[in-house]
Amino acid sequence: MKSNATLALSGKNGRNVFKVMKILVIMGSPRKGNTYQAAKKIEEFMQSMGKVEFEYLLLRDANLSQCRGCFACLSKGENYCPCKDDASLIEQKMHAADGVIFASPVYGMNVSALMKTFIDRFCYILHRPRFFNKKALLLSTTGAVGLKETLDYLKLIAGIWGFEVSSSVGLVTPPGLISKKQEQENDRKLEKAAFEFYNSFQKKRRSPGLKEVLIFRAQKASFGEPDLSFPADYTYWKEKGWLNPEAKYYVDVPVNPVYNAIGWISERVLRRKMRKDLAEVRK
Ligand SMILES: Cc1cc2nc3c(=O)[nH]c(=O)nc-3n(C[C@H](O)[C@H](O)[C@H](O)COP(=O)(O)O)c2cc1C
Repeated sequence: MKSNATLALSGKNGRNVFKVMKILVIMGSPRKGNTYQAAKKIEEFMQSMGKVEFEYLLLRDANLSQCRGCFACLSKGENYCPCKDDASLIEQKMHAADGVIFASPVYGMNVSALMKTFIDRFCYILHRPRFFNKKALLLSTTGAVGLKETLDYLKLIAGIWGFEVSSSVGLVTPPGLISKKQEQENDRKLEKAAFEFYNSFQKKRRSPGLKEVLIFRAQKASFGEPDLSFPADYTYWKEKGWLNPEAKYYVDVPVNPVYNAIGWISERVLRRKMRKDLAEVRK
């Protein structure tokens, strides 16, 4: 597949400046197996399309402990997490990348424990999203089943964190010998995903779908009530300007007017219900 895209950005003097795109692979497999090999192939395909630089973060080697469930990151802020490990370094790596590949094998019909631990440790980003200028590619491999569940879950998380998910690829990699036909099919899927991911860096962020608008409105209702929300969430949302009555979405992109109207109504309904529930509790 030939890319017709060059990752060219307009420089100050109007000339094109070619930027090396930084891709961070977050690898949820405990081994350098099928998922790692698939990510390597995506790297090869993208290298043939233009200038890209890959970094692999193998979660098995990362100093990232399990969430202790104390709620400190959600309520007071991520700096209050009692786990003294590399979480903030990992978040910095995501900020430094132009795109992130979230890669996990299917384990028990969903992401691996390594990937789940990683997601749990960054749950505060679900409340305080931040990666809006980044693209994501989702990658999973399975022995037979569970790709949909795994990729849907990764899509939900990456999307709420703010990433624009530009591509998603799931491969069947049965244990033992893989047939030539299956291998070719997998390579074709990886090349397509690499192509979509590569080209997405040239495109402006698309307008949100109804589900994305509804998530924004639900969060706006939930985090906009100082009496009901965690202080860190309320402050973050206020500072971002997302609590302003006219705020339609996290970023300044066109929002479909029908989705906006549905979102506006649902925000009002949810807010009213929350206030009513609070009044009941205080009685
Ligand atoms: C603990 C464990 C759980 C698994 N669960 C499933 C499963 O639910 N469904 C499935 O089809 N394959 C399952 N598999 C197979 C893996 O998804 C498959 O072999 C995958 O390609 C492994 O990726 P890796 O080589 O990158 O680790 C499981 C494998 C292991 C080790």
